[in-house]
Amino acid sequence: MDRYYATTPIYYVNAKPHLGHAYTTIIGDAVCRWHRLLGDDVHFLTGTDEHGLKIQQAAEAAGKSPQQFTDEIAPLFQDAWQRLNISNDDFIRTTEPRHKVGVQQLLQRCYDAGDIELDVYAGKYCVPCEEYYTDEELLPGDLCAIHKRPVEYFEEENYFFRLSRFQDRLLDWYAAHPGAIVPEFRGNEALGLIRGGLRDFSISRTSLTWGIPLPWDSKHVAYVWFDALANYITAVGYGSDDAQFQHWWPAQHLIGKDIIRHHCVYWPAMLMSAGIELPAGWAVGGWLLSGGEKMSKTSGNVVNPLDLIPEVGVDGFRYYVLAETTYGQDGDFTYEGLIARYNSDLANNLGNLLARVATVVGKKCAGVGPAPRADSPLADAAVAAFEGAAAGWADVQPSRALEATWSLIRATNAYLEANEPWKAEPGPEVDAVMGDALEALRIVAVLASPSMPDTCQTVWERLGLPGSVGDQRLPHAAAWGGYPGGLPVVKGDSLFPRK
Ligand code: ME8
Ligand code: MG
Repeated sequence: MDRYYATTPIYYVNAKPHLGHAYTTIIGDAVCRWHRLLGDDVHFLTGTDEHGLKIQQAAEAAGKSPQQFTDEIAPLFQDAWQRLNISNDDFIRTTEPRHKVGVQQLLQRCYDAGDIELDVYAGKYCVPCEEYYTDEELLPGDLCAIHKRPVEYFEEENYFFRLSRFQDRLLDWYAAHPGAIVPEFRGNEALGLIRGGLRDFSISRTSLTWGIPLPWDSKHVAYVWFDALANYITAVGYGSDDAQFQHWWPAQHLIGKDIIRHHCVYWPAMLMSAGIELPAGWAVGGWLLSGGEKMSKTSGNVVNPLDLIPEVGVDGFRYYVLAETTYGQDGDFTYEGLIARYNSDLANNLGNLLARVATVVGKKCAGVGPAPRADSPLADAAVAAFEGAAAGWADVQPSRALEATWSLIRATNAYLEANEPWKAEPGPEVDAVMGDALEALRIVAVLASPSMPDTCQTVWERLGLPGSVGDQRLPHAAAWGGYPGGLPVVKGDSLFPRK
């Protein structure tokens, strides 16, 4: 059994969760569910990033203390993930004691290694990014390139992490670990940042109090990014439970392209300094755009994912997020696109297939599902669907995995159309065709379950199969011939009524 530990970014709690957060979280959830089907020992972590200037300012604007404020927002993320059927094993808040202890240990290790030193910093700071920028990185008028709003001038005595010392070590490490960052072009972006030269970055602030104090100088609190990145190790016991930490670390990090520098440059250097193994990998997504702009709280063009549930259901929404865009590339969110995909892939393909099969089995097989043929013409399509899905999920390419899965749905619909069992007299020929279609649907239910867990459970039960689709184990459960026959097939309501 393999171990698989995956993380999402921990999201800022300055406002409610939006579609961009749901995007990365749903992808992480589906990938983890696939690994559970493979029988892996899975740990899926998400959480909230609660310290720093941005949160302190948001709390002030709301007339609350930062603790009160974050205590109100963090549960909105937990509730959203519950409603979207996210199967996270843990949820870390950076205000928790287990996190603070671990951050202080990490800081101390880097300090003891000589990689953290006191210095004076003056520069232009974007508060929404919590990041200093050079003039070349800013747009004319000193605007942040991401947020298109003015940066602020800060001058502080800070502790610095000597990132500049890590250029060669990082390049050597990445050279020795090809494919650590997927997709490859996002890995090239990270390498470009490292080759372009690394500036030391400040890891402490004296200008605010909402943060974790440095263990050796409590006038300073840790820079929010140093604090936040550490969640990936503190959540699994770094600084508090060494056995647990040894069991789970390292992780594969799912992140958006906006935070490549922090995750693929700062973070591995911090880990090297502290003598901790580097991450198992990074899977970097593009942005969901809305009206051509990155959907973000700061741009004010956000879509609340929970608003879409009444439209297409939890699974309709999950499917759209996973199938519509190629992970790594930007994708445009449109309401029309959501409905179009729902109608074509869910109503017309999967929903229609199940309805047809159940209707014909009801009419021509007395409602009892026949067994498939060993030499069914659909068996090859099932093998190809499994192989394509397995490759897609392994590469964190959900759209490819689902395309492969849907190829089996399309092949089965075509097979029924070619054989027209609804026109034939009941008998062995109809039984054989329907057994094949039921078996294909059984395999589809397994392969599609990471994307649509509840819907696939419904399909499973309507085919008369016992237990839970999520408890099936691959590759065995995808092997042709698993549908035993002799099970009651239930018609039920339309899975996905057409919009
Ligand atoms: O950056 N499209 O938090 P954050 C796709 N707290 N993904 C999007 C997105 C969009 N329009 N908007 C957000 C932070 N995301 C830090 C992270 S981790 C140690 C600290 C997703 O609330 C995407 O995964 O700004 C992005 O990287 C993340 O949310 C940023 O969330
Ligand atoms: Mg952001």
